[in-house]
Amino acid sequence: MSLLIAPSLLSANFGKLSEDIEFINNSKADWFHVDVMDGVFVPNISFGFPVMKTLQKEAKKPLDVHLMIQNADLYLEEFAKHGTYMCSVHFEACTHLHRTIQNIKALGMKASVVLNPSTPIHLLEDIIHELDVVLLMSVNPGFGGQKFIPHTMVKVRALKQMLNERSLSTLIQVDGGVDPSNARKLEEAGADVVVAGNAVFGAANRDEAIALIKG
Ligand code: DX5
Ligand code: ZN
Repeated sequence: MSLLIAPSLLSANFGKLSEDIEFINNSKADWFHVDVMDGVFVPNISFGFPVMKTLQKEAKKPLDVHLMIQNADLYLEEFAKHGTYMCSVHFEACTHLHRTIQNIKALGMKASVVLNPSTPIHLLEDIIHELDVVLLMSVNPGFGGQKFIPHTMVKVRALKQMLNERSLSTLIQVDGGVDPSNARKLEEAGADVVVAGNAVFGAANRDEAIALIKG
């Protein structure tokens, strides 16, 4: 099976958002990756519910919502109402992570936990069996178009081993600086899904970029 790809709308043209949504609808991409930033957890502010509303109306593929925000619990219900398929929260931003995961699932969304590049995967030992996806950041969150951090490969392999040891089918997702030059290595290491912003929306031929990354 080839890698799943979730193009990140952070790199889309917000002046012509509907066109870029339609492009993804008609492409071989699998999910829409939706980066929500609050300017507190990360040093950038992206977008919120008005954009979610447009996506809910126009996107024909699952909405993979990556929350880079503090106090995620306050907003989960609203994200569920806006059509979120999978909700990713940061390990580093959730004090009561178990409760947050239960809340996500109770609202009917798939649950995912995100680890920053410096957060070790062993910290997931007591929550991993509750998760549909683990998202490993391969850049420091906050901006698109950054360089892939090579140590991510080691983390993907270790996470795959952790899942195998527990006979879990949790998906491994990687986000940040993914392009055709590292996608195959990520797949070999055990990744199931990759996010790609710049590598898709910045490509001269976006369909070709998607095909090369999926493999
Ligand atoms: C970074 C975001 C990523 C980002 C990926 O904080 O979580 O999803 O948009 O963009 P690229 O693929 O350009 O690194
Ligand atoms: Zn993201």
